[in-house]
Parts: sequence; C-alpha cells; structure tokens
Amino acid sequence: MGVTALILAAGAGTRMKSEIPKVAHEVLGTPMVRLVVAAARQAGCDRVVAVTGHGAEFVEALLDDVQCVRQEQRLGTGHAVMCARGALMPAEGSLVVLSGDSPLLRPETIDALVQERERSGAAIAVLTAEMDDPAGYGRIVRGPRGEVLGIVEHKDLAPQQMDIAEINTGTYCFDAAVLFAHLDKLDTDNAQGEFYLTDMVSVFHREGLGVVGVPTDEPQETIGVNSRVQLAQATRVLQQRINERHMIDGVTMVDPNLVWIGPDVELEQDVVIEPMTFLMGATTVERGAHIGPSTRITDSKIGPDARVDASVLIGANVGRDATVGPVSYLRPGTVLMADSKVGACVEIKKSTVGEGSKVPHLSYIGDATIGKGVNVGAGSITCNYDGARKHATVIEDGAFIGSDTMLVAPVTIGQGAVTAAASAITRDVAAGSLGVERSEQRTVEGWADRKRAAGAEDTERGSEA
Ligand code: UD1
Ligand code: CA
Repeated sequence: MGVTALILAAGAGTRMKSEIPKVAHEVLGTPMVRLVVAAARQAGCDRVVAVTGHGAEFVEALLDDVQCVRQEQRLGTGHAVMCARGALMPAEGSLVVLSGDSPLLRPETIDALVQERERSGAAIAVLTAEMDDPAGYGRIVRGPRGEVLGIVEHKDLAPQQMDIAEINTGTYCFDAAVLFAHLDKLDTDNAQGEFYLTDMVSVFHREGLGVVGVPTDEPQETIGVNSRVQLAQATRVLQQRINERHMIDGVTMVDPNLVWIGPDVELEQDVVIEPMTFLMGATTVERGAHIGPSTRITDSKIGPDARVDASVLIGANVGRDATVGPVSYLRPGTVLMADSKVGACVEIKKSTVGEGSKVPHLSYIGDATIGKGVNVGAGSITCNYDGARKHATVIEDGAFIGSDTMLVAPVTIGQGAVTAAASAITRDVAAGSLGVERSEQRTVEGWADRKRAAGAEDTERGSEA
C-alpha cells in the first residue's frame, strides 16, 4: 500500500522575527520545506501534500510540484491535519506527518518509522529523541512499563515533568484510517488554546489503540527550527553531513568547516575544495577539478581538471582543463570550452569562449561568441549595450584582439584577424586583416628634458629666495 506524507507548513514562525514565512528560510541555499519534501520523496512516499497558511502564496510558490491545502486560521497542528482531511480521503495505509521546520530529517529515518508502525500494527509511531536541552519541545510521557501514555507540550508541563529528556520530534506515522476516525476527539483545552496533533497519542492510548515511540539514534537530525539560532545550528549539521558524504566519496576538503555545499550539488572523485567556498543549486563538479579558495558557484557545471580560484560563477559551464580567476565573475550563459582561460578581473555574460582561447586580464565579454585559439588582450571590452538593446560580437578562430580594444557590437572579427591595441572597432574586420582605429602618435623631441630642466631652475630660485 502506498505511503502519503503530509507536511505541516502553515505556522507563522513568530520566533523567527521575519517577514518571510518560517519554512521558506533557507538552509544551505534550500528552503527548509523543500528539504522536508525531498526527504519524504526519497523515503518512498508516493504522495506528498503540504498544509500552507501563513504566507501561503510565498510558500506555495516554493512547492509548485506539491499539492497544497490551505489552513486559513492557524488553530494548531491538529487543526492543520483537519484541514487536509478532504484532500487525503479516502485514507488508508500509512500517513507520515512531518513539520516543515524540521529540515534535517533523513529519508532512512522516515522509512524506519513507517516500517515500525506497519510491523507493529500500531495506530501511531512517534519519532522521539533524547535532547541535552529539551526546552521548547513536547515531552514523551511513558508509563511504568515504558509504554507511551501521551505527549505534553513544554508550556503544559507539570513541575515533575520538566526534566523529561525524551522529546517529541514532530515526526509521526499514523494509520491514516484510524487517525481520521479519531481526529475530532481533539480539543483546545491546553495552555495555547490550540488543537494539538500531539494529543492523538493520549486519545489512542485511552481507546486502547497501539502507540509506539521510536527513539532516533541521531537526535541532531530532529532539530525543529523555531529561531535564527536554530537555523544556524541546522545549517551547521547539514553542512557537516553533506561534506562528510562527499569526503567519503573521494573529495578533498582542506577545511570542511569552511566549505558550504547545497544538498543537490554533485561532486566527482578527486575534486579538491579550498576554504571559503560555496557550491549551491544544481551545480556539478567533475573529476579532478580544483575549486577555491574564496569561490561562490551556483547552478554551474565545472568540467574535469578545471581550476576556479577566488571567483563567482552563476549559471556557467566551464570545460575540461579550463581555468578561471583569480577574481573573475561568470554570469548566466557563460560557456568556457576545454583548455580555455579566463584570468584576473574578467566579467563574462552569455558568451562562449572557444577551445584554448584566452581572456587573461581585466575584460568584459557580453553576448559574444569567441572561436578557438583566440587571444583577447588586457582591458579589451565588448560594448554590447547601446543603452536600449544588446548586440552580438563574433570573434572567429585564431583572431588576436589587441589590448584595450573596444569591440562596438554588432561586430565580427574574422578568422585570424588582428585588432590594434586601443582601437575602437565599430566595423567588421575581415578574416586575415588588421583593424586599427587610433590617431597617429606624435613625438615632441626633447620635451621631457626641457620640462625637467625648467623644473630644476624653479626649485633653485625658490631656495635662494
Ligand atoms: C511541535 C510539537 C512539539 C514538538 C515540536 C518538534 C505540537 C502541538 N507540538 O511544537 O510536541 O516537540 O513540534 O519540533 O504539535 N503548523 C501549522 N499550522 C498550525 C500550527 C503549526 O501548519 O496551526 C506547522 C508549523 O508551520 C510547523 C509545524 O506545524 O512547521 C510545527 O509547528 P510549531 O509551531 O513549530 O510547533 P512547536 O511549538 O515547535
Ligand atoms: Ca517547531
């Protein structure tokens, strides 16, 4: 029978002190609620439904591939499930309920919880954890034989319950039919005046239905993010988890504490990552590439044995053995073919740099197609924007662009052509030709010597006075 996941993501997240809904806050470049959806899917949940409410449009935009139901008034986690009842009917099999603010939960933990409920035939399996500091969490109240009697929220704790270290992680697997048959038994008779989903445990216990508490062996994965402090803690834990996975798979990290890698990034064997490097989004780094230090790469592909040093890359594709940096900026649509070089202080946008071509120093290249074996001299620029529209520059194979050439687009430099340094090229240069645009140099003989001599006389007169 299929497993459905219900993700609660309607809460305001008051403790975040934010305009942005809590579950939209990012951990390693990924909104928390998306991490929860990914974990549910990886755990094999074939249907995922989310409850949205606070900032619903904002959150739903992040969940364009998930069915969302609205909880117009936030009357608690139990009420959130009531709002989803219609969408989940007819309910059968296992229903996993997850919080949109628990971004570290691993798929294998969700799967184990489902297995445990189905094996035991219980109405609910609750994932629990022993926390060093249980403050803020609901506590698991067990009877003399270890049976779970109920969950008591932090604000409802009796004095003698304060030191219970076993907490409710907010992750549950229900028998869906049993849940919906008893959901109306929830009430708001508690410190917060809310329908607590956690009260289902005592309801089931009273009805003689099976309740199992499943302790996790990795309490860190159950962190519920209610504040920015916890957001930073969650980021640290996910950072370590991701980095360790990559190191085990053959990636060198000079200092893994100073490397931040998003959950969807793929790294091949023998990649080396230097400190202060951020790899985010749908980024892939292939075999032997060397990245950093001080580099930020988003949604880019880095080819085998490429080298990227102290640069920012967004939506770029860097070919085999190509080099970038130090201190360059590759913007969306940049394609560097194999063995090409982008050196220091170069910005490239929506352009292709052909195989073995070089843009070594201080250039801007936009909307350009550069062929193979081209050299672009220092300080050369494509003038691609006339104030209203963008225009294309084409530089064919083997061309040589002299230093400080202004290529005023649209313009084509033919195969093997040369532009003279400091030329403003406004017309096409045919293959094999020279394009030169600059006034002739004048040399005024002896000028500098005369100037220096006059200066020396002035100083002498000054000291006599
Ligand atoms: C909840 C649990 C607590 C547990 C903790 C684990 C309840 C009553 N308490 O407390 O036992 O230890 O999680 O992290 O369930 N939400 C809605 N609609 C609402 C209220 C909340 O969708 O009306 C969503 C929130 O967006 C959030 C999740 O439910 O993703 C949990 O809500 P939150 O307010 O963070 O509950 P906690 O106080 O952390
Ligand atoms: Ca919470």
